[in-house]
Formats: sequence, C-alpha cells, structure tokens
Amino acid sequence: MSYEQLALSGAKAYREKPDALLLAIESSCDETAASVLRGSREILSMAVHTQIPLHQKYGGVVPELASRSHVERVGGVVQKALDDAGATLDDINAVAVTYGPGLVGALLVGVSYAKGLAYAKGLPLIGVNHIAGHIAANYLTYPDLEPPFVCLVASGGHSHIVQVRDYDDFVLLGRTRDDAAGEAFDKVARVLGLPYPGGPNLEKLALTGDAAAYALHAPFNDSPSPDFSFSGLKTAVINLMHNAEQKGEPIRPADMAASFQHAVIKTLTNKSLRASLEAGASTLALAGGVSANMALRTSLAQAAEAAGMRFCCPDFRFCTDNAAMIACAGHYALMAGAPSPLSLNAVPNLALCAYGGHGEAG
Ligand code: KG4
Ligand code: ZN
Repeated sequence: MSYEQLALSGAKAYREKPDALLLAIESSCDETAASVLRGSREILSMAVHTQIPLHQKYGGVVPELASRSHVERVGGVVQKALDDAGATLDDINAVAVTYGPGLVGALLVGVSYAKGLAYAKGLPLIGVNHIAGHIAANYLTYPDLEPPFVCLVASGGHSHIVQVRDYDDFVLLGRTRDDAAGEAFDKVARVLGLPYPGGPNLEKLALTGDAAAYALHAPFNDSPSPDFSFSGLKTAVINLMHNAEQKGEPIRPADMAASFQHAVIKTLTNKSLRASLEAGASTLALAGGVSANMALRTSLAQAAEAAGMRFCCPDFRFCTDNAAMIACAGHYALMAGAPSPLSLNAVPNLALCAYGGHGEAG
C-alpha cells in the first residue's frame, strides 16, 4: 500500500476510534514541544524545551539559534512526550504539527520531523495553524466548551478577534494594524530595561505601579473599528521617557509599566467586548501568550460578566506555546477533513482565515 493509502485509511480509523492517540509537535518560535492526546481533549503528556535562556542575552529570539536548538532537541522532546504518556510510537494513531505562522527555519524542523514519523509509521499527518492551536487551548481547559464563540487571540506575533463558528471555521472580526499585543509588551519592557521575555516581567513590575501615573492613550483605539493599534502607545512610552530624561526628571518604571499595561488592556477589553456583542456571541474566550496576564484575564472576565456573557481563558499551562493545544486543534482538523499530504511545507505567514472586516487578507 502506498503512504497516501495508508494515511487515508489511518485517518478513517482515527475518526472511528474515540480513544485514539495523537502525537503533536510544536516548533514555531522558541519552544520545542510535543504532546500526546487521547480522544479529543485528554492530555496524556506535555513535554517542552524552552529556549528562553538561549535568547535572553540578545533581548529577543534569534531565528538561526532557534532553528538549531529545535534540531538538537526535537527528538528528545518527542521521546519524553511518548515516555510520559506511557506510549511508544506503535501506539500512536496520528501525527499533528504546527506548519505556520512562525519562523520558517523553526517551523521546518517540526514539519520535517513530523513528516518523517508519519511516513515511517504509515500514519496520517495533519498540519495545524498555530493560532487555531491557541484557540483550542480553551477546549482543553473547559470540557464543555464548544463553538460558536468569539476569541481574542493575543500572542507575541498576532492579535486577532476571531469569531469561532465551528472547530475549523473562523471569521476574523478585528486585528491589530501594527504591533501584536505581546510584541508591544516585549518592546516596552525592553525600553524599561526588563529582560526577555518582556510580557511576564512587565506584568510583575506593573503590580507595584500606579496605572494612572502616566497619561497613555492611543486615539485610534477609541474608534468604533474592531481593529486596534499598539505602535503609537509604544512610541508614547519612549517619548515620555525621553522627555523626562531631557528635563532631568526621574522615570518611575513601575508606574510606566502599569500605565502602559492599563492602556493595552482597556483597548483589548473594549474592542473584544464590542465585537462579541455585535456578533451576538454568548461566550467570549481569550487565548495566546498574553492570556497569561492576570490583569487582562480579570478585565475581560468583568466585562463579559457585566454583558451577561460567559468568559473562558486557558489554564496557565496552556497559555504560552505548547504542543497540547496543537494536538487538540489537530484532532478536530482530522475529524473534519483529509490528512495533509507529505508535501506539507512550513508557511511563515499562514493566515487563519480571510479577513472579513475590511477586505484585506488576514
Ligand atoms: O503565544 P506565545 O507564547 O507565542 C507566540 O505565538 O507569539 O506568546 C508570547 C507572547 C510574548 O510576547 C510574551 O511577552 C507574551 O506573550 N506574554 C505576556 C505574558 N506572558 C507571556 N504578556 C503579558 N503578560 C504576561 N503575563
Ligand atoms: Zn503562540
């Protein structure tokens, strides 16, 4: 039997086996991760090797170093995921892998490894969109959660408000016009002299600051447009710091961090609440690395509650990049459609869906 025939019959068998095991690999940025999923939502293992110490001295991810580290680690991380799940490759029924968006060299490591495994074992392969993975982190946290709902995806590379019409049917309601939310956190953190990754460190610093200390405002974010913009806020922080420096006034980093965080959270909350109401959603979910931010979780939870909506956000272990979320999204993709061909390639700017809002590609 050819590989294509094996993959098709394997996919059919997978759909008919409620306790099938799926192995997922994630290598889109600075985490090498693998996970084994049973059925649709039962995580048997989550293995991860983080590259944070590797990139820390450069203040951000160095793509070439990231790719090399993935190459060195992927085999061990996959083996750990299998061991922790008490499984061997012979027990696995399907292989899922992130194929975009992300760093091309980093993505290629996971994609090549997953293709090799699928081919060697005659297993169906399924390519997963990383953003769909972040959204699926909510399914792992709430066993009863099903589409439709609206999800704010705020990560280091993307900030989207997505209408999740079905497990594999997305409509982009709004998005950032420039910097992603996590990117803005990271850039401002850098200006404040905080180590990479900036987001969590800025949140920590903001805890001791006064959010009303600095008047930070992005006028675009007051507009009724479902899109938002963060690069102006970042520039405003830089300008305030330069002005203070020129006048010889001291800068209060904790107050700056708190004021910046407050402005970002206000925008994300207002825009996603408005989009959810306009879409007639009864559930608002949060996903992506920035979903680990406690102040954002609290702000969205309060806004959703006041509007009579359910609010969902991922368990902390599923917030930043991991392979469990890729496994879950891969499961639903395999249930709904054909497996990916062995010609599957890394797509660094892979879109989740076409942009419904303003006619541009997402
Ligand atoms: O989703 P993710 O792990 O990777 C991408 O797909 O981009 O998101 C990483 C981003 C980084 O920008 C990081 O600074 C941000 O999420 N982040 C946070 C927090 N934890 C992670 N931003 C604000 N507050 C946090 N607690
Ligand atoms: Zn991510």
